[in-house]
Amino acid sequence: MSALFQPFKLKDVTLRNRIAVPPMCQYMAVDGLISDWHLSHYAGMARGGAGLVIVEATAVAPEGRITPGCAGIWSDDLAQAFVPVVQAIKAAGSVPGIQIGHAGRKASANLPWEGDDHIAAGDARGWQTIAPSAIAFGAGLPKQPQAMTLDDIARVRQNFVDAAVRAREVGFEWLELHFAHGYLAQSFFSAHSNQRDDIYGGSVENRGRFLLETLKAVREVWPENLPLTVRFGVIEYDGRDEQTLLESIGLVRQFKAAGMDMISVSVGFTIPGTSIPWGPAFMGPVTERVRREADVPVSSAWGFGTPAIAEQVVKAQQLDVVMVGKAHLANPHWAYSAARELGVERASWTLPTPYAHWLARY
Ligand SMILES: Cc1cc2nc3c(=O)[nH]c(=O)nc-3n(C[C@H](O)[C@H](O)[C@H](O)COP(=O)(O)O)c2cc1C
Repeated sequence: MSALFQPFKLKDVTLRNRIAVPPMCQYMAVDGLISDWHLSHYAGMARGGAGLVIVEATAVAPEGRITPGCAGIWSDDLAQAFVPVVQAIKAAGSVPGIQIGHAGRKASANLPWEGDDHIAAGDARGWQTIAPSAIAFGAGLPKQPQAMTLDDIARVRQNFVDAAVRAREVGFEWLELHFAHGYLAQSFFSAHSNQRDDIYGGSVENRGRFLLETLKAVREVWPENLPLTVRFGVIEYDGRDEQTLLESIGLVRQFKAAGMDMISVSVGFTIPGTSIPWGPAFMGPVTERVRREADVPVSSAWGFGTPAIAEQVVKAQQLDVVMVGKAHLANPHWAYSAARELGVERASWTLPTPYAHWLARY
C-alpha cells in the first residue's frame, strides 16, 4: 500500500493524499491583482490530483511584494479575486491554501526572467524596502532597506492579521505564514540581517519575537479548526548550521505552543554565497529532525518530485506531506503519474472522471 496516497488529517481538514503543490509565484499579477492566468494555473494543479494546493506568496502590503508582478491581499478587492481560484481548487477535490508574506529587503525586484535583481534606483516601478536593520542582502539585491520603527513592526504584524481574515473570508482552508527564504520574517530571525538593539534584535528570543507575535496575532483570527502553518528556513548552510538548527527548532517549539499546526521546513536564504547541498531530497534528514525534536507534523520541498522519492520519505516518516513544485509545472497531473508509477489502485487516483475514465484503459 502506498504511503504517499494515504489521506492526511490536520484539524478539520483532510487531504486526499500526501502530495502538495507548494507556493510558487507566478509573477502575473498587476498591482497585486490576480487574473485568469492564476485561475487556470491553480485549477489545473488541483485537477491534477494533489491533496493540497497552496497559492503563491501573496503580499500583505504593497511594499511586501517581491516584484511588481506578485499577488497581493492587502485590500478586500484583491482578496475577492481569489474566490474563483478557491472554488476551482475545492471543486477538484483539493484543499485550497494560501501563503501570505512580506518580502522585506528582497522586495522591489525585477521579474525572474527580467533579471531577478533589484529594480534600479530611479526606476518608477521600484519602491523603498523595509527590514529589521538597514543592511542590504547583497549580490543582485543591493538596495539598502529602511530599518523598521516599532510602528512599522506593529503595522506589518497587523497587515498579516488583516490578510488572514481576508483569506478566510474568501474561503481558504489552509493558511501558511511565509517566515522563510530571507524575506521579512526570516530576516528578523537571522543575525546576518538583524542587528537591532531593541526587543526585536540581539538574543535569539528577541530575533524570534516578530515571528512569534505575528503567529499569535494571526492565530487569534484564523479559525481554530483550520490548519495554520509556517514556512521557515531552519538552516542557512553558512558554516554555523548546528547552532542555527538548535535556535530554529527552539523557535518551532514555541510556534507549536502558540498554535501552529504544521511546519514547512526550508532553507533560510538570508545571505548570498552559502553552500547549499542541492540534490534529491536533501532536506529530508533536516526535516525529519525538526519533526522529531519539535514533535510537529512537517512538510518540505526541494527535490522530492520523483514518485519513488516522495513515497520513500513518507514511508520513512521523514515528511508527513511532500511538496512537489517544479515537477508540477512540468506535469500538472503529477499525482496521477505518481499513482500509476507506484502501482496505486485505481480507487485512489485523483484525476477528474472525464480524464480518469479514459486513462484507466490506456
Ligand atoms: C516559480 C517558482 C516560484 C516560487 N515561489 C515561491 C513562493 O511564492 N513561496 C515559497 O515559499 N516558495 C516559492 N518557491 C519555492 C517552491 O515552493 C519550492 O520550495 C521549490 O520549487 C523547490 O521544490 P521543487 O524541487 O519540488 O521544485 C518557488 C519556486 C518556483 C520554481
